[in-house]
Amino acid sequence: MDYAGILEKIHVDLQPWLGKGRVADYIPELAKVPADSFGMAVVTTSGEVFRVGEADTRFSIQSISKLFTCTMAFRLLGDALWQRVGREPSGTAFNSLVQLEAEQGKPRNPFINAGALVVTDVLCRRFVKAETAVVEFLRRVTGEPSIDYDMRVAQSELAHGHRNRAMAHFMASFGNMEMPPEVVVDAYCRQCAISMSCVELAKAALYLSNGGVVPSTGERILDSSSAKRLSALMLTCGTYDAAGDFVYRVGLPAKSGVGGGIVAVLPGEMAVCVWSPGLDKNGNSLAGVMALEWLTTFTDQSIF
Ligand code: DON
Repeated sequence: MDYAGILEKIHVDLQPWLGKGRVADYIPELAKVPADSFGMAVVTTSGEVFRVGEADTRFSIQSISKLFTCTMAFRLLGDALWQRVGREPSGTAFNSLVQLEAEQGKPRNPFINAGALVVTDVLCRRFVKAETAVVEFLRRVTGEPSIDYDMRVAQSELAHGHRNRAMAHFMASFGNMEMPPEVVVDAYCRQCAISMSCVELAKAALYLSNGGVVPSTGERILDSSSAKRLSALMLTCGTYDAAGDFVYRVGLPAKSGVGGGIVAVLPGEMAVCVWSPGLDKNGNSLAGVMALEWLTTFTDQSIF
């Protein structure tokens, strides 16, 4: 597959769209990123890396962290995790509170903020510093020891994180928080503030393309059945209330973040990450979704 040529073509075709959309500003530190930034990387299970644009520039991974924290919590609890978090698409915005009351504090899925807070609660219970455990996990699966979280982004979100605090306290009122809500929100904001590049994120997600095993080291992160299940959740819930439209256009399991990154996996073949900070109305990268749609169209590869 000529990934190099296809990435170049995508970069050229995308030019009119770069800078379109809205850069997230509800976390003030994120608003400082140039709107027309763009990078994309494909990493194959056989170890080849293809990159275009700013594929080595680190950005705030935000909700993409939910994929890795969910992996870690699933490793710890297995199916017991689903007693506290559901597995259905929410059909509501990623930071919505509306379903929580009707559904007694059990979030619809681990990729909306409420569900991710429960997942982080699981990690806070197990690790002295959950955010450090997440950073260490990411360093291990990528082989990049300099990965870390950006304190300014974490502080910026902590200072404005009223909705996440509300959700965590609300779930605590239903008995669905084991640790103090403030501890969980603090760890959650730090995990979201981890900075990584497209190449690093594609490498990090590669265990999902490879039956749960990191191809470069042979380390098993998940059994193949669990890798299937997490990828299925990405497909149905990874891009929020736009998951239906996303899978129609792209045809790959994916996880997005308001920093403008999207990671997607093609089982048995590769992981891809695209970054462009301008977001569409659902909070997904506008140019990023287009780039992935073109990638699966030009390569004629998707899960379908
Ligand atoms: O909790 C928040 O609002 C952010 N830390 C993460 C949100 C996010 O990335 C949702 N993605 N589209």
